[in-house]
Amino acid sequence: MSKKVALVTGSSKGLGKVIIQKLAESVIKVILNYRSNYDKAEAVLRDIQEHGGEAIALQADITDQNDVERLIDASRETFEQPIDILVNNATDPQPELSLEEVTWEEYLDQLQFTVKAPLLLLKEVIQPMKENQWERIINIGSEVVEIGNSDFSNDVTAKSAMIGMTRSWANELGKYDITVNAVHPGFTPVERHGEGTETSAHSYIKGVPLNRLGKPEDIAYMVRFLASDEANFITGQNMNINGGNTFG
Ligand SMILES: NC(=O)c1ccc[n+]([C@@H]2O[C@H](COP(=O)([O-])OP(=O)(O)OC[C@H]3O[C@@H](n4cnc5c(N)ncnc54)[C@H](OP(=O)(O)O)[C@@H]3O)[C@@H](O)[C@H]2O)c1
Repeated sequence: MSKKVALVTGSSKGLGKVIIQKLAESVIKVILNYRSNYDKAEAVLRDIQEHGGEAIALQADITDQNDVERLIDASRETFEQPIDILVNNATDPQPELSLEEVTWEEYLDQLQFTVKAPLLLLKEVIQPMKENQWERIINIGSEVVEIGNSDFSNDVTAKSAMIGMTRSWANELGKYDITVNAVHPGFTPVERHGEGTETSAHSYIKGVPLNRLGKPEDIAYMVRFLASDEANFITGQNMNINGGNTFG
């Protein structure tokens, strides 16, 4: 995979940060994207470069068409080759809202990340991807689509749309040897969850067959596998990385 270029949206922190670090370890050239947190993005970029990785950091709001065009143009200029691996990971906060509280705008807020941004990005990369005949699209979903959590219909609905989209893209792009898969993390503590999450997540862990919370690395290893040559016959699939909390 050493000649490949990967874009991971929202990779300045959280799961995206570890995903991009693991891809960079596999000698993939990586594009780190963030929206507002320059300091965190710079820190991740430095870390990758200090470990010998080839990386750039590009600010862009991936829900905005002009920003997406600028992001893809800038990455093409830097690496002088198109993007081979697109990881749709970025997210805004996902508030828990009852059906009385939630509004159509709250649904749209989530759909901006699960449908609009992946589509805007796909439109910019699809032509060279079709020409290259070895490419990967990996959508980061969530186990909530299996659980159907109450007071969370905004996120559950938006992530569910991602599943149908993944399947349809896989069907349409398969003839170009482009694979499209979805990775569904379980509850995986990252910076935003704060300290002591393992203790407060006690009741969640009780229902998990492996009896513990996942780590960002668990998600990143699956993404890296799906991006590899070894995964060349896997497309249109949903990978649940949640210690067995769901199966479907
Ligand atoms: N962590 C979990 O427990 C869990 C569970 C299930 C699914 N997931 C999924 O995993 C993915 C990552 O979640 P996370 O917990 O790692 O999130 P996170 O820690 O909140 O990180 C979000 C990332 O997205 C970026 N971002 C936000 N809005 C953006 C925009 N408009 N344009 C570009 N980048 C933007 C942020 O950059 P800035 O900081 O610069 O704004 C940040 O890098 C999401 O798709 C989420 O639904 C996570």
